[in-house]
Amino acid sequence: VDVYAVAGNPIAHSKSPAIHQRFAEQAKQRMHYGRLQPEVGAFAQAAKAFFAAGGKGMNVTVPFKLDAQNLADVLTPRAQLAGAVNTLWKTEGKIFGDNTDGAGLVRDLLAQGIDLHSARILLIGAGGAARGVIGPLLEQAPKSFIIANRSSAKADELVKLFADLAASKEVALESRTLADLEDPAKTQYPFDLVINATAAGLTDESPLSSQAVSNIFVPSSFAYDMVYGKTTAFMQQALQRGARVSDGLGMLVEQAADAFLLWRGAHLTNLIDPRVVLAELR
Ligand code: ATR
Repeated sequence: VDVYAVAGNPIAHSKSPAIHQRFAEQAKQRMHYGRLQPEVGAFAQAAKAFFAAGGKGMNVTVPFKLDAQNLADVLTPRAQLAGAVNTLWKTEGKIFGDNTDGAGLVRDLLAQGIDLHSARILLIGAGGAARGVIGPLLEQAPKSFIIANRSSAKADELVKLFADLAASKEVALESRTLADLEDPAKTQYPFDLVINATAAGLTDESPLSSQAVSNIFVPSSFAYDMVYGKTTAFMQQALQRGARVSDGLGMLVEQAADAFLLWRGAHLTNLIDPRVVLAELR
């Protein structure tokens, strides 16, 4: 039986094994999907051992996505642009790396009825999680796209990195600091879609001050937190402004669906139903 695993640290509470087991049942695939917890700094060693022992594919989560990118012999263009890898597999002696996070986020947003093509988007955060989703969001040709970060340097870097793609889609791509968002004159408000990609979601803080919140959200806004399993402080702020909110569980399921299809074959696309698996998890 073909063996797969998710690698992260910590990993005990990962929902990926349950998600992939459900896809395997839906598509009538025989596979085993387990958990791996390499020590921080020992990802490459663990991944090499996994593939040497016959492992077919691996999902990679915090904090190993950059290590996974470095490990891969071949990267897909979107993994290169994302600067991170969440899906690995071995074919003909080579380890391939892809990133399905951004595509997963886009599909979850579309499934929740978000019209990305006309959206004014605010992405909060400029770390690895933010970078991973910018390309696929820009591909949808939104109306405008602002990357806001606590410190400006990283957001400016991302704007440079994605400038060509944004120009080709005719998207106005700009950076702001979180403090800028408190100033009604510095940015055009409100936003249709606000995505929290900061690590602040993991603790019980929001990256947004109350002044920023009142500029950013109107009742027609949609607030998406990439963290899952709770109503975060960021989501609560949006709810208080009457906006619609979502956690990131749908993104988790959708990125897993893409990984499953990369491993097991695109011909299985119509047999798996990520929205059913998501409903079961809820
Ligand atoms: P990840 O891979 O989860 O994106 P990361 O690359 O370390 O992790 O990036 C963390 C992001 O969360 C950054 O954008 C960081 O802002 P800075 O670049 O200014 O450090 C942001 N972040 C973390 N804690 C935050 C907080 N309490 N408030 C606002 N932003 C925060």
